Amino acid sequence: MILTSEEQSMISGGLGKSSQTAMQILAALGRIYGAERLIPVRSVQIAGVSYDNLGDAGLEWLAEMADGGGYVRVPATLNPAGMDLENWRALGIPADFAEPQLRVIEAFTRMGVTPTCTCTPYLAGNLPAFGDSVAWAESSAVCYANSVIGARTNREGGPSALAAALTGRTPEYGMHLEANRRPGVTVEVRARLGDTADFGALGKVIGDRLETAGQKPIPWIAGPDSPGTEQLKSLCASIATFGGAAMFHWRNVTPEAGKYDPPDEHIAVTERELRAARDSLTDASAAETDFVSLGCPHLTLAEVERIAGLLDGRRVAKEFWITTSRPVKREADRRGYSEIIERSGAKFAVDTCCVVAPIRGRFQAMATDSAKACYYAASKNRFRTRFLDFDAAVMEALAG
Ligand code: F3S
Repeated sequence: MILTSEEQSMISGGLGKSSQTAMQILAALGRIYGAERLIPVRSVQIAGVSYDNLGDAGLEWLAEMADGGGYVRVPATLNPAGMDLENWRALGIPADFAEPQLRVIEAFTRMGVTPTCTCTPYLAGNLPAFGDSVAWAESSAVCYANSVIGARTNREGGPSALAAALTGRTPEYGMHLEANRRPGVTVEVRARLGDTADFGALGKVIGDRLETAGQKPIPWIAGPDSPGTEQLKSLCASIATFGGAAMFHWRNVTPEAGKYDPPDEHIAVTERELRAARDSLTDASAAETDFVSLGCPHLTLAEVERIAGLLDGRRVAKEFWITTSRPVKREADRRGYSEIIERSGAKFAVDTCCVVAPIRGRFQAMATDSAKACYYAASKNRFRTRFLDFDAAVMEALAG
């Protein structure tokens, strides 16, 4: 891989210990994936933020990178942390988790990373433009950036995303190259889609098909509907979870779809398959459900407004977490939605989510509109799940 003179001086330690480590990580990645050079990135989104995943070894490494003089060269934000950074006590997070979690955030902040902890950075100030190269790590956000925005990013790991932030560069391979963004399979949707849950189910059906296809082609979706932001973020989360997809095209919706003819390889998704996918994500009854969570990926302001409307003047009967980013929560405060929601007994879980918070085994069954949250609730947190439409999940929280 060819390095510029500035990159050479980084890798030889001339610009400090942390820049050297960061450049070594990128050079190793570039060699593995056959990149010819590094390219500049406009922004970074860093995963591996929850102390639940990082542990002491991860925390130590971050502190070393901060101590070694690491400082961001481009705007960088964080994926959700293991707790609400302000309101963790109300969510039952123990102090012996909160203390190291806050040290993780402190290490990132010392390196100049903006401590906005969200999987929807594009709703919280980290919004690339069409064609920008970025280095993002959260799988749903990576899929959203490539597909919906038309920015270019591979799915970075925690260390490679931090390395990109500290150098302002990433190796040029994978989704950064035009040739790898070509669709390989046409997906004809022969089902009605409406709720965010429908798009989560669609992502599961397509994702499962891609998994069994072995080599994973990029889907070119021909659907009857024009999905909005909420539906698209739900689809991105689900298709990335079940099929490992970093990108899809959607006819007349996503910005690069029109560049290509529909691929000859063709699959159809029927109403029956969508229903089966939905059914497969539910194994708990309403009576067993003791936890409701909305906001995977983090909620938009419109979704928070919707919840406020449904909860106005009522009391929830179950633990109900509303997960979103700090900027969206602040705007919800200003508009009075937060007060309505909190008066109902529901709780905001800002900066975090039901998957990365340390709540394994704390509940018996969780209701949500997110296919991705169902997958991880079962596999990581050992909850049974109930997959519902968005409004129905709110009603589930109200039902005794
Ligand atoms: Fe975001 Fe957590 Fe879901 S990081 S996509 S809310 S699992």
